[in-house]
Amino acid sequence: MDTTRANSPEIGTENYRFLQNHVYTHSGIVLEGDKHYLFESRLSPIVKQLGLATINDLCALIRATGGYEVGMQVVTAMTTNETYFFRDPAHYEAIRTVLLPRLREERGDTRKLRFWSAAASTGQEAYSLAMLLLQEGFGGWQIQITGTDFSPQVLERARSGTYQQIEVNRGLPVSLLVKHFRRSGVNWQLSEEIIKMVKFETIDLRKSMRSLGPFDLVFCRNVLIYFDAETKKNIMREIHGTLFRGGWFLLGGAETAFGLDDLFERTPIGGATIYAAR
Ligand SMILES: C[S@@+](CC[C@H](N)C(=O)[O-])C[C@H]1O[C@@H](n2cnc3c(N)ncnc32)[C@H](O)[C@@H]1O
Repeated sequence: MDTTRANSPEIGTENYRFLQNHVYTHSGIVLEGDKHYLFESRLSPIVKQLGLATINDLCALIRATGGYEVGMQVVTAMTTNETYFFRDPAHYEAIRTVLLPRLREERGDTRKLRFWSAAASTGQEAYSLAMLLLQEGFGGWQIQITGTDFSPQVLERARSGTYQQIEVNRGLPVSLLVKHFRRSGVNWQLSEEIIKMVKFETIDLRKSMRSLGPFDLVFCRNVLIYFDAETKKNIMREIHGTLFRGGWFLLGGAETAFGLDDLFERTPIGGATIYAAR
């Protein structure tokens, strides 16, 4: 019996379901509807790299070995890792004009600040914040920025602080490029001063995260859109548990903390929406 689809000779029906479940189990990401094209375009390079013939062989390999590395490579390939420096400029403007002046006053005694970039991807979000903090005169403060993601591959890139030309062209002001990066072959290398402000850790957002806190500000942007409603709510509850009372929480443009009014107060600042932990 032919179990493959006419428009997708590559992936058998059982394997298609296996891949959907595999990605959901390991990341919480829901891949509904017809994603054959997406699986094929994202997984073909892995098939090739492993010297396999088809995506069905890749499924067989994961099933047979339960291989964490290949399995995670597949999940990472199916995940949207898109990010860029100073994404959603209104957020950084609100941080610069309202949040940091308040923190300067409130934490003036300890001069300690703690931030978390959840779903950090290749690090641009965490490093944008680090550059902003230096620019705003927090260099002498004890700053801890934690960047987390469930994908070891993206975090490896984040830790390296090495970016391609196309990546520094997106969102990064030239003045900051000149100040904090140097040329390294065809790439750009971020300075040690900025790199050492951020500590990256592999963390699945669906696990308990309370031990990470307390934080003054948490970014959890452009990741919750991929989860089902219950997973989203659980993650936001966990994040609430990592914030100082009155601490801030940022979501991506297409995300809201709808239904969690008991935990967060929605606060518009300029063009940004910021949530304050009750
Ligand atoms: C689109 S990127 C967002 C990057 C950044 N926050 C931004 O807004 O520019 C989404 C990231 O979420 C990560 N991710 C997906 N599922 C995750 C999970 N269950 N736990 C932790 N990170 C996850 C992906 O690896 C990816 O790097």
